Amino acid sequence: MIPVSFILNGKPVRCEVPAEETLVDTIRNRFRLTGTKKGCGTGDCGSCTVLLDGTAVRSCTLLTGMVEGRSVTTIEGVGTMDHLHPVQQAFVDVNAIQCGYCIPGMVLTAIALLRENPDPTEEEIRLAISGNLCRCTGYQKIVEAIQLAAERMRTTGEEAAR
Ligand code: FES
Ligand code: FES
Repeated sequence: MIPVSFILNGKPVRCEVPAEETLVDTIRNRFRLTGTKKGCGTGDCGSCTVLLDGTAVRSCTLLTGMVEGRSVTTIEGVGTMDHLHPVQQAFVDVNAIQCGYCIPGMVLTAIALLRENPDPTEEEIRLAISGNLCRCTGYQKIVEAIQLAAERMRTTGEEAAR
């Protein structure tokens, strides 16, 4: 077992994990943050996406020991029930959610994109989410949601990640 200390959704946390444990398992099983989904477990579907120091990464291919001292944001750390993040609100407003399994990863990928590129083209949005698979194939609505979020955030000046 190795000790790991990191920032999880803005709060310092510490745990002891086997060296081979991946971050998705640590997040879900030790911290009970089950918004992060484990789909393939092999880095192919994007459902386990979290933000690592603001960058979208796949937590199923990242060893927990590698996040020592770093900042991890899961979907639970984005918005609140009373005040959704603009990306979350846009997904709701355009009905971009079907089963919802891919949505946490999609939202976090979109937040990372909009932080880097507040005014992405449709092609850039599609490229950004190309590693996030939606089994319900709701891509058109998801793209529309990200476009709406980008437009609203440019209008209000709201930051991509808060
Ligand atoms: S569960 Fe991590 S990419 Fe599929
Ligand atoms: S909404 Fe079902 S997997 Fe995307």
